[in-house]
Amino acid sequence: MTEHTDYWEAQAATFDDEPDHGLRDPAVRGAWAERLRAWLPEHPCDLLDLGCGTGSLALLAAERGHRVTGVDLSPAMVARARAKLAGRDAAFLVGDAAAPPVGEQRYDVVLVRHVLWTLPDPGRALRHWRGLLRPGGRLVLVEGVWGTVSPVGVPADRLTALLTPLTEHIRLERLSDDPLLWGREVDDERYAVVAS
Ligand SMILES: C[S@@+](CC[C@H](N)C(=O)[O-])C[C@H]1O[C@@H](n2cnc3c(N)ncnc32)[C@H](O)[C@@H]1O
Repeated sequence: MTEHTDYWEAQAATFDDEPDHGLRDPAVRGAWAERLRAWLPEHPCDLLDLGCGTGSLALLAAERGHRVTGVDLSPAMVARARAKLAGRDAAFLVGDAAAPPVGEQRYDVVLVRHVLWTLPDPGRALRHWRGLLRPGGRLVLVEGVWGTVSPVGVPADRLTALLTPLTEHIRLERLSDDPLLWGREVDDERYAVVAS
């Protein structure tokens, strides 16, 4: 295992303690459910959740009838996602989000929250993800820039610049001003992009 995988393996046990990770507070959960409702197709579709973590967003998508495949490099995260979605129309694989092990399968939605910033070549990953979409499919990307002293993340203008040659329609939604999503007030950059 690499240092990167070790890091996320170690995070898995307490990952859901953060309000926006575990979505245990009904108000936080409801806020994410409402955003997902707006970002995802109304009809049940095939959705690929890359870097799915413990499966919290995957569960919200499955509850709306979507068929979910989740991929994460951390076996401990995948184990938690499998347990969280037991009995649902969902499958979870251990693998690299940048080149997910899904063969020729294509999806209506590729959903990625808070993962792109961890990848060594975000532009390359986005090109690959674009190629995993069926005609009419969409990328739903939730990202941000966290921290002020040593900020990490992908600013919205960088992500939209990377998506411009790949997609026709790009909708940027700012998320910093909705404390319900985070369980508290935040003042750093947080946003979602729906691109098709
Ligand atoms: C900040 S967490 C986000 C988890 C989930 N998307 C969510 O929003 O709750 C980042 C996740 O990405 C996974 N991850 C990091 N790099 C990855 C990679 N190259 N391939 C697959 N998963 C990766 C980590 O194991 C972790 O579960």
